[in-house]
Amino acid sequence: MIKILFIGDIVAKVGRRMVQELLPDLVKKHQIDFVIANGENATHGKGIIYNHYQQLKQAGVDAITLGNHYDDRDEIRTFLDAATDIIRPINLLNDYPGVGSALFDNGRIRIRVTNVLGSAFLLEKVENPFIAFDRLLTTIEPGDIHIVDFHAEATAEKRSFGYAFDGRVSAIIGTHTHIQTRDAKILPAGSAYISDVGMTGAEESVLGVIPDITIRRFWHGENKFFDYDDKAAGLLSAVVITIDENTNLATKITPLYILEHE
Ligand SMILES: [Fe+2]
Ligand SMILES: [Fe+2]
Repeated sequence: MIKILFIGDIVAKVGRRMVQELLPDLVKKHQIDFVIANGENATHGKGIIYNHYQQLKQAGVDAITLGNHYDDRDEIRTFLDAATDIIRPINLLNDYPGVGSALFDNGRIRIRVTNVLGSAFLLEKVENPFIAFDRLLTTIEPGDIHIVDFHAEATAEKRSFGYAFDGRVSAIIGTHTHIQTRDAKILPAGSAYISDVGMTGAEESVLGVIPDITIRRFWHGENKFFDYDDKAAGLLSAVVITIDENTNLATKITPLYILEHE
């Protein structure tokens, strides 16, 4: 039995602090073998700089996935090729450093991690995620645990993706909306699934952002920069996925929703 912890979008300083403070105990408590975290919002909500990549690694994250914010910090282009444990979306249309899928081997387990960007209601133009991911599956060697971060807005696109690739991967884990959904389950052919893991950041917030700012945007049309309360109490959203090593399919998926103030 292999246990994988997948942490939802880490947003700004509070999100990074929650991971630093809670991850060691979570790994012990749930006997976690491998930790994946979505880091697209790690640096003040937009992208991830080298410093924060190092922070998350030191906190115990083994693999970092991205999303539509993959290119928000120019700096990432300078270190992404060398940072083989960061996985950016696989279906980008432009030439971009890094990889969209990678195989990790820590001596005990082999695990593939892939990041796919959805196409519905997102500004970024990408190759059709179903076509891009199906092509990947035909080119890789089967037989490894495979966790997919499907970073998308629409639950219909996410659930379609889940059923489309059910049984061909260990887990399809949705990210991007920052709100944990109630539909975590093992799909009929054995892949773990959730439409969205949720976010790791300030609890009293709108997707991590100070509510006053998003209220002004929606109510009054003000276009102020998103800002984050670095002193806010935190929330950590994640799932624990249990995988049968004989089949590389999932037997259990357990959502975690940890509020700091409780
Ligand atoms: Fe995000
Ligand atoms: Fe996103």
